Amino acid sequence: MNDTERIAHLRTLLHRLNHEYYVMNAPTASDREFDEMMHELQHLEQLHPELYDPNSPTQRVGSDLSNEFATVVHKRPMLSLSNTYNRQEVADFYQRVGESLHGQPFDVCCELKFDGLSISLHYERKRLVRAVTRGDGEKGDDVTANVRTIRSIPLELPAGTDCPDAFEIRGEVLMPWASFDRLNRQREEAEEPLFANPRNAASGTLKSKDSRVVAGRGLDAYLYYLLSDQMPAEGHYQSLQMVRSWGFQVSEHIKLAHSLQEIYDYIDYWDNERHHLPIATDGIVLKVNSFAQQRSLGITAKSPRWAIAYKFQAEQAQTTLRQVVYQVGRTGAVTPVANMDPVLLAGTTVRRATLHNADVLESLQLHVGDQVLVEKGGEIIPKIVGVAQESLDNPHRGQPIHFPTHCPACGRELVHYEGEAAHYCPNETGCVPLILGRIEHFISRKAMNINSLGPETVDEYYRRGMIRDAADLYLLTEQQLGGDQKMVRKILKSVDESRKVPFERVLFAIGIRFVGEIAAKTLARHFGSMEALAAASVDDLLQVSGIGMVIAESVRAYFQNPSNRDFVSRLASCGLQMQLSEAHRQAQSDRLAGKSIVISGVFAHHSRDEYKALIEQHGGRNVGSISAKTSFILAGDNMGPAKLEKARKLGIPVMGEEEFLALIQG
Ligand code: IVH
Repeated sequence: MNDTERIAHLRTLLHRLNHEYYVMNAPTASDREFDEMMHELQHLEQLHPELYDPNSPTQRVGSDLSNEFATVVHKRPMLSLSNTYNRQEVADFYQRVGESLHGQPFDVCCELKFDGLSISLHYERKRLVRAVTRGDGEKGDDVTANVRTIRSIPLELPAGTDCPDAFEIRGEVLMPWASFDRLNRQREEAEEPLFANPRNAASGTLKSKDSRVVAGRGLDAYLYYLLSDQMPAEGHYQSLQMVRSWGFQVSEHIKLAHSLQEIYDYIDYWDNERHHLPIATDGIVLKVNSFAQQRSLGITAKSPRWAIAYKFQAEQAQTTLRQVVYQVGRTGAVTPVANMDPVLLAGTTVRRATLHNADVLESLQLHVGDQVLVEKGGEIIPKIVGVAQESLDNPHRGQPIHFPTHCPACGRELVHYEGEAAHYCPNETGCVPLILGRIEHFISRKAMNINSLGPETVDEYYRRGMIRDAADLYLLTEQQLGGDQKMVRKILKSVDESRKVPFERVLFAIGIRFVGEIAAKTLARHFGSMEALAAASVDDLLQVSGIGMVIAESVRAYFQNPSNRDFVSRLASCGLQMQLSEAHRQAQSDRLAGKSIVISGVFAHHSRDEYKALIEQHGGRNVGSISAKTSFILAGDNMGPAKLEKARKLGIPVMGEEEFLALIQG
């Protein structure tokens, strides 16, 4: 067997093993055998870039080519379903269908309604050629590169598959609970905002610009709708059985119902049983089975007349509202939170529910002691959705609850910014939760990384009068701290070490509103020192690319406040980095000004991240994907064949490592 044949052989074999593992849950090879074949294929493909195939099993890991999603017009519009919420509406649907079919008998295919996002997959000659999101139903985003990483979606169907030459298959991309929980745990550790539910997580993931991120997130897909000019069956249920035999993942829980009673039975069964599934579902979909009958029923503007969704009631519980407390965050935003008598809801005991903001709170018109209805819908955090009738009818209700006009922590009058739902406490230097929140931000990992201190310790030091703000951390002494010697030394050491943290992170750590990690980096590079930044006018700030009005005004306001200026100068006298390091500045030039540069391949002299930094230090921009606007490609060894091809097509120069280093050194 020569290399070309071996590559083809391995690809076919790995496609089959993949299907056995991810769709059938019945692997016939060990993980080790699978890995060995995969490595061999990767190796052979590297030797033969001319045999590159986007559908190769090796491509499931994603690539560093950035995805800019092209908009694609759907060949057949993607309709939605009309929703029903109770048995009567289901009965109405059943009757309507019967009447429209003039009393002909009909079957209904019952399916679970998966809670993810819909996807349209196109196959031509047994190969996946395109994957498109629903978008607005008329046109969606081309997310093929990301979809290729979803292992239960076949990239190629086995040679003997008896399927039409061209077909479209629709289904739902979703994130199983296990992947979702893992992802949120990771995000919590990285201090990143959590996803509210698996649907948001799946949709955020599928729209990621980096398919390697998608590959690592454990997405899955169920297919539920075949469309083709040559349909292989007379009915929907039968067509899904065919689709399954071609290698697609079709739910095992689809069922043909021959009467309204059988539909009810299906609904009743899954209303409970769905909680034991490894994935999120939010209802049942009912589809008239026969394609001929579907055609005769037709569609309305938005949805087919032959199908409906029955949405499960979100689980509700009733309990007593004790009080509403107001949490003040680091930014000063005030969030109302309800404390309630504990109640069991969807398997967990609930005591607290968020009321989001003043508008939500006021719209509920709550009174202390009310019987409230709590719901856990698609979101993980429970919410209060209303007051029970018995409380509304009660003439002796408790005190009405209103959002405060003044900060519950410090008493200062709250402010409300146009276009924002939240109310803020503006007392940045005098309100305890704001002060503590700012110190916690200051010591956090991405800021000064003083990891021997946690929120409880900060709280304690503050209450004992040892610190008033983050600058005081640098004045702490061994005697002051007392207690466990080992611990104390550890704390003092990590405080001391933070003096070396580079200027850009100091700038992030001081917590100027709207100045996140990226903006801090940009500002640090542009102005070079805290002094220069503090002196910058709004106009100066607006000159910096990537800095808009919101950030510019916030930076200006920060440095106009005398207590902020005092804080920063105390940090400076404690020895923190208030300017870019000498090495950093010397290494700077504008030799790459205005250039967009793509990095690709493996390098000998510096790491990829170092090259990224070098490009920025010399005024260039590192971009992820090749386009007509790319100035050149900085290429190491083993540059991906897809990139090479694209560069050639667009006539973009490719520059080697040495040449690049010579260029920036002038
Ligand atoms: S069929 C014309 N089947 O629900 C019929 N949809 O509100 C097209 N969905 O956009 C859809 N599970 O994202 C169908 N078993 C299932 C489904 C399902 C979830 C989603 C889908 C669609 C939405 C309709």
